[in-house]
Amino acid sequence: MDFKFAIGQRILEALNGTLGDPGLSAADIAAALEIPPDTAMGDFAFPCFKLSKALRKSPAMIADALSGAVTADFLSKVESVKGYLNFFIDRATFAEKTLRAAEAQGEKYGSDGSGAGKTVVIDYSSINIAKRFHIGHLSTTAIGSALYKLYKFFGWNAVGVNHLGDWGTQFGKMIAAYKRWGDHDTVARGGVDEMVKLYVRFNEEAKADPALNDEGRAWFKRIEDGDPEALEIFNWFKSVTLKDAERVYDMLGVTFDSYAGESFYNDKMQPVIDELKAKGLLKEDQGAQIVDLEPYGMPPALILRSDGATLYITRDLAAAKYRKDTYNFDKSLYVVAYQQNLHFRQLFKVLELMGYAWYKDCEHVAFGMVSYEGQALSTREGHVIYLDDLLNNAIAKARAIIEEKSPELEDKDAVARQIGVGAVVFFALYNNRIKDIDFWWDRALNFDGETGPYVMYTHARCCSVLAKAGETAAEPDFSALSDPEAQEVVRLIGQFPEVAKSALERNEPSLITRFTVDLSQAYNKFYYDQKIMVDELPVRAARTLLTKVTRDLLRTAMQLIGLNPPDRM
Ligand code: ARG
Repeated sequence: MDFKFAIGQRILEALNGTLGDPGLSAADIAAALEIPPDTAMGDFAFPCFKLSKALRKSPAMIADALSGAVTADFLSKVESVKGYLNFFIDRATFAEKTLRAAEAQGEKYGSDGSGAGKTVVIDYSSINIAKRFHIGHLSTTAIGSALYKLYKFFGWNAVGVNHLGDWGTQFGKMIAAYKRWGDHDTVARGGVDEMVKLYVRFNEEAKADPALNDEGRAWFKRIEDGDPEALEIFNWFKSVTLKDAERVYDMLGVTFDSYAGESFYNDKMQPVIDELKAKGLLKEDQGAQIVDLEPYGMPPALILRSDGATLYITRDLAAAKYRKDTYNFDKSLYVVAYQQNLHFRQLFKVLELMGYAWYKDCEHVAFGMVSYEGQALSTREGHVIYLDDLLNNAIAKARAIIEEKSPELEDKDAVARQIGVGAVVFFALYNNRIKDIDFWWDRALNFDGETGPYVMYTHARCCSVLAKAGETAAEPDFSALSDPEAQEVVRLIGQFPEVAKSALERNEPSLITRFTVDLSQAYNKFYYDQKIMVDELPVRAARTLLTKVTRDLLRTAMQLIGLNPPDRM
């Protein structure tokens, strides 16, 4: 039941019988309803100043007049307080309607299906070839994947794109190094680490012998020109990197619909350059081709270097157009650190100048910087955490705790995986995305307090309560859920649709993460204060239903942020 709409209707009816036509519909009134910060002030509040103008009365007068006139069987009290009309929903009715609605909608509870027929492209993770997957790419991977799931939950057609960083002169250098010092088996065995070694050696030796750089450039030119040998080595480097990354993606349950990265746009940039020229946007500047963005307070977008090489933004222009042409998106998101703010502002501005109205549908979903124990990440100095190490550590810790606390558990390895990976993903999605993250091992591996394991534990607790309670034919007595503990759980369950909606609208998965904590805390309080296995079956049925809806909703919410909670732990 939609309490807001029902209250809107009752207010409208009461107005028509007393103060007159407010010039608003029931839906308008419903939309203006607020949720008071404290339940002592009611479950919903209507700010009467919204009607002052139309009715030419003070908010307090309107609230006073309406407090006696609005009645409904689902309302236990209507109060006028300082120009607000506060509504108290009858507790048993509130519990009944909320739980029944959630139960009826099952896994879909929380989604209004508003994305049906719409497409969103989400660019996330977007790792770089020949680099190991480290915690610098954890945020984009976790946030992007959560958004991917959230948009789908709301009925959108979501397209996940891993815009691989697979272009640049460094790949020429790597091939040159490989040709000089590398061999197939070592790289095949050592994977990305071997490629990095070759690259480091190349840069060291090039200091003494600068001619090496020409060799690197020549190899890159061969990649660009499609030389078969160069391409074969380059594609092999790529597949070795991706194989490493896929192990991590598998652990995380992260998927993509496309791996079209920077090199994919190699043959798609010339048409964009021609178009920029034809539209009079390209300007020559010391031999380079730029789009002047000074009128918009930005440095120029460098499209072609003086040696004719394309740049990151050139490929992103081609990619943006390609995505529009291929997927005809309604929205195109880029989940990339805020260090690239300027890049995306430039990109969207150039698209606008090109006359593409859909530049407005593009959005940079920025997130904060990751540092490690107070210092900037640095692969070169070894000041970095690799994602597979992080995940494996978390899994090992979970495994040790299981061994200690539930040695009888079946599938210990699988459960340890679910908990360990969940702890890391939860850690990445806990804070507002724009906040910087300083990574500390003990924080990421913390299993107490507001953490993934805590929420998963609550879910498992619900599962075990339900297993003990078994089936009962008794009709729930919803007045048994009138206590403040049960009411708080019901209130949170009732709020989930709005929480999910704002997470979607703000591209902010942390709202869901926080919700899982709030619901867990409320349920645990209920669990400690109220007995579930009582003899009165209708009371037991009500508390069991509350547990069931909590469990299902915790599961839904956790899955949205990429956690896969075990039933037992
Ligand atoms: N590979 C880039 C990086 O690691 C991120 C790419 C983001 N996507 C894009 N279309 N520019 O910083």
